[in-house]
Amino acid sequence: MKNITERKQAETILKGENKNLETLVIKRSEELFKVQNELKQANRLSSIGTLAATVAHELRNPLGVIRMAAYNIRNKVNSPATNRHFEHIEKKIYESDLIINNLLSYSNIKLPHYQKVSAHNLLTDCIQLVGAKYLHKQIRVTKDIDPVKDEYIEADEFQIREVMINILDNAYQSIEHDHGRIRVKARIQDFYMKIKVQDNGVGIDKSEKADVFKPFFTNKSKGTGLGLAICHELVQLHNGKIELASRKFHGTAVTISLPMRRSYDGVQDPYN
Ligand SMILES: Nc1ncnc2c1ncn2[C@@H]1O[C@H](COP(=O)(O)OP(=O)(O)OP(=O)(O)O)[C@@H](O)[C@H]1O
Ligand SMILES: [Mg+2]
Repeated sequence: MKNITERKQAETILKGENKNLETLVIKRSEELFKVQNELKQANRLSSIGTLAATVAHELRNPLGVIRMAAYNIRNKVNSPATNRHFEHIEKKIYESDLIINNLLSYSNIKLPHYQKVSAHNLLTDCIQLVGAKYLHKQIRVTKDIDPVKDEYIEADEFQIREVMINILDNAYQSIEHDHGRIRVKARIQDFYMKIKVQDNGVGIDKSEKADVFKPFFTNKSKGTGLGLAICHELVQLHNGKIELASRKFHGTAVTISLPMRRSYDGVQDPYN
């Protein structure tokens, strides 16, 4: 009799231990999966980064030499006939500098440093900051972001700021008429923060839609074509999504979706 009771007790204990072990294995596997993913992203980042930094560095030196030589010749010759050409050279050097700076910013992309970020404050700041650059354009900006006023997301504030500034810059730059409108909307949907920037600017041709996220694709005389490529990279690092919808001559809407919480993997809400 005693033996049977002892065996039952032992079995119950064993069952409990098994359950604990199972939970532990699942937890450790999840952790391992997360670390593996981070490692994969870090590797990918470092190869893009190394290439971009090398190219930027290699270009910066010859460009400096060209700038110096142009400056010296211009001073020596100092004739109105050649000055026009030198101005052109200087302008092109300046534009190349812009490309190099953006390349360096591309190469400096690091894994996000997660913090609690108020999307409402971040958007308000960015709208004000970018708007101040385009006061001459008289564009009406509407903010529809109050539904996220008391919410926060786990994200790298600096990186998401850069994303929003790039998207807003593009929206302002796309408007050439005098009844310009930009609408910024933020909502929470299925544990994601969705931010949409809509403009009524020139729009994008269907044939070019697939290219806009590629590095160096630009339609602007002073653009580097790295803005949206950087946005794409940064949003992806946050396990988010960036989408663009556009109609030529009507306008463009760019939407980013960011997971509200860092460890959210699309299957479960870790806070529930
Ligand atoms: N809101 C928009 N409306 C119309 N076209 C857009 C918009 N956003 C992006 N584009 C198109 O996509 C191209 C690539 O954008 P991206 O931001 O990557 O580079 P850029 O704006 O040309 O240069 P940079 O951002 O370096 O100043 C733009 O040149 C433009 O043709
Ligand atoms: Mg841009």
